[in-house]
Amino acid sequence: MALTILKGTIVSAPSLGRLDSMEDGFLVAEDGRITGVYLVLPERFSGAPVTDCGGDLIVPSFADLHLHAPQYPMLGMGMDLPLLEWLEAYAFPTEARFADLDYARTVYRRLAAELIRHGTTRVCMFSSLHTDATLVLMEELERAGVTGYVGKVNMDRNSAPGLLEETTEQSKRETLRWLDACGDFRRVHPMLTPRFTPSCTNGLLAFLGKLAKERGLPVQSHLSENSAEMDWVRQLHPDCAQYWQTYAKYGLWNDRTVMAHCVWSDERERAAMRDAGVTVVHCANSNQNICSGVAPVRVMLDEGLQVALGSDIAGGDQLDMFDVVASSIRASKARRMMDGWQTAFLTVAEAWFLGTSAGAAFFGAKPGFAPGNPLHAMVIRDSGLPQPHPLTAAQRLERAVYRRQSDAVRAVWSEGRQVFSAEQP
Ligand code: GUN
Ligand code: FE
Repeated sequence: MALTILKGTIVSAPSLGRLDSMEDGFLVAEDGRITGVYLVLPERFSGAPVTDCGGDLIVPSFADLHLHAPQYPMLGMGMDLPLLEWLEAYAFPTEARFADLDYARTVYRRLAAELIRHGTTRVCMFSSLHTDATLVLMEELERAGVTGYVGKVNMDRNSAPGLLEETTEQSKRETLRWLDACGDFRRVHPMLTPRFTPSCTNGLLAFLGKLAKERGLPVQSHLSENSAEMDWVRQLHPDCAQYWQTYAKYGLWNDRTVMAHCVWSDERERAAMRDAGVTVVHCANSNQNICSGVAPVRVMLDEGLQVALGSDIAGGDQLDMFDVVASSIRASKARRMMDGWQTAFLTVAEAWFLGTSAGAAFFGAKPGFAPGNPLHAMVIRDSGLPQPHPLTAAQRLERAVYRRQSDAVRAVWSEGRQVFSAEQP
């Protein structure tokens, strides 16, 4: 039996707003699954090797529930246009490069390594429309230790004809070819990915909805991100009073659906998400960078929606989820100021829950370091920051979120396996 025992200051979010912490605690995983967190190591483990993390924090690793792998080459650039113009000017030409498999291999290997170094071990990720590059992406993620879902993007209209657009037939055929080729992956699985309603014909949406049902596949897309996008959806689907109905109409709306943004989703649309068990992915950096708006995340949580966080690179400018957690707090404060101080903001404990436990829930994990969960964890060192007086574990976590240092993540475990150590060259 494989045994992992980590010793250090263990901090996790067992529920929204709560942080559990234990100094000099032991986190034990057997055969890759957590079996317990202990102040005193049980007798049956005496003599077993212990990884002593000293005073470092041991926390669950991050789940990034929305990011675009083929936008990694434009990370930190071109954020001077609103969504629809930004797609045409920057995103589509950048994604078009992934017809080249050598280029895809180089970029995706680097992306996968960078995700792991930043402690992101679970993702729901968009690829481009290219089937073979999507398979390369899945290979590179699996090799690096990033787990979760990846989608070959479907886009058969209103995209970039001749550059980045499929015919409906191609889109259907390539989706089936891609799914056939996904069987060999163990930790990275396919997720159907209609880019968003404007870029898919009704026939394609219907095909994907049927496929999702027949094969039990999860679905990811974008929803109510930007007001021009929403006007466009209304024109394209005059029979749908609300944007979400364009997905629901085709069977793309259930508890295995992930919808990014939802900045402008009103009470009705939010109720539709809650009732169906759709997961909302809040992408605060992206929403600010391309001026989409400020999502009412606190209200969504109060209403009982499932909310997780996404970097949404490259609308988002950071794949580092520490930054994404901090941005979600800032966005909630902006929302509070906009709402006449009526809504509460996210606390650090709440935002930390969203970036870790809430995202992990989509993959079937229980919150925090619950027994039974596959071990997804990281070690954070903050000894480089000033320590003029003793801090609680919660204070240290808060400071790690806001003042993260480039080498703060010292080690990472994913699905029970150590996938990163900063101590090795
Ligand atoms: N909506 C459709 N495609 C995209 C994309 O690539 N990024 C974002 N932020 N929104 C989208
Ligand atoms: Fe996106």
